Formats: sequence, structure tokens, C-alpha cells
Amino acid sequence: MNINLIYASLTGNTEALSELIVEKFKEEKDIDVNMHFIEDMEDFSILEESDAFIIATYTYGEGDLPEEMEEIFEAIPDMDLSGKIYGVIGTGDTVYDEYCVCVDQFDEQIKKTGATNPTSNLKIEIEADSDEDFENIDKFIEDFSSAL
Ligand SMILES: Cc1cc2nc3c(=O)[nH]c(=O)nc-3n(C[C@H](O)[C@H](O)[C@H](O)COP(=O)(O)O)c2cc1C
Repeated sequence: MNINLIYASLTGNTEALSELIVEKFKEEKDIDVNMHFIEDMEDFSILEESDAFIIATYTYGEGDLPEEMEEIFEAIPDMDLSGKIYGVIGTGDTVYDEYCVCVDQFDEQIKKTGATNPTSNLKIEIEADSDEDFENIDKFIEDFSSAL
């Protein structure tokens, strides 16, 4: 099964969350997830080649998409991703009014393609450090892998 995680990260928080998720899929479910840094991607055909995928994003400005995520965000509605499983995760900071809104924006955008999200959008404040964070991460992994 071809499962890919595409992430953006400026200061490392979303990268650390992505690494944690990949590690837990392997340890808890023996599922391999391939990580791709958005800035290293030449095109986004990997989404169409995936059986399942995860988008990981931070939120910038005043609820703005990271600049490096704009191209894939715009490209997604034109892709046929029907029958694929996806999830969206991200980090943000509750000092901002628009907390982690880019996670929800990606979810809405991917929904248009006919792909199925069996998870609740996973939002982590800066880094996973509370019981609630780890419960939400485990639930994300459980819901995602049960749908594969
Ligand atoms: C200029 C600036 C604007 C930000 N705006 C938001 C925001 O609107 N909503 C939010 O939830 N977090 C916001 N953040 C917080 C980042 O999303 C958060 O620090 C995130 O973990 C960064 O991810 P990264 O370390 O992967 O780059 C902002 C941070 C900066 C520096």
C-alpha cells in the first residue's frame, strides 16, 4: 500500500509532528508512511499515485496558508482522488484568532475530489505534549488505519 505524508514546516513543529505520526504508524500498526517535504516536490502526482495520504500544515499570517502550500492547495480540486483515504494534521498557536484554520481549509479542499477522510482533523498547539494531544494522535492513527 502506497501511503504518503506531505508536510510544510518553517520552524520545525509540523515536521516533528509528521515524524511522530510516521513513527507511530510503524510502531503501532506496522504501516509504512513516506514523508515528503513540500519544498522538495517538483509536482504533486504522488497524490494521485497514493492509496492514502496525509497533509500536514502550519497556519501563518492571520489564518493564511503557508506560501509553499499555495500551489498544491490550488491544484487539488482538479485532481481525481476518489476512493482514496486522507487525513489532515497541523500545528498552530492559540494566541492567534484563526487557530490552525489551514488544517480545516485543506480538509474542505480535498473533500471536493471525492476522497474520504475517516479522521477528525488533528490540530496540535506547537508540539504534542499533553495527554489530550497523545490521545488525539492515537485516535487519528486508529481511525486512519481502520479505513485502509
Ligand atoms: C507570523 C506568524 C503568524 C502565525 N499565524 C498563525 C495563525 O493565524 N494561526 C495559528 O494557529 N498559528 C499561527 N502561527 C503559529 C504557527 O502556526 C506555529 O508556530 C506552528 O507550529 C509553526 O509550524 P512550523 O514550526 O512547522 O513552521 C503563526 C506564527 C507566526 C510566526
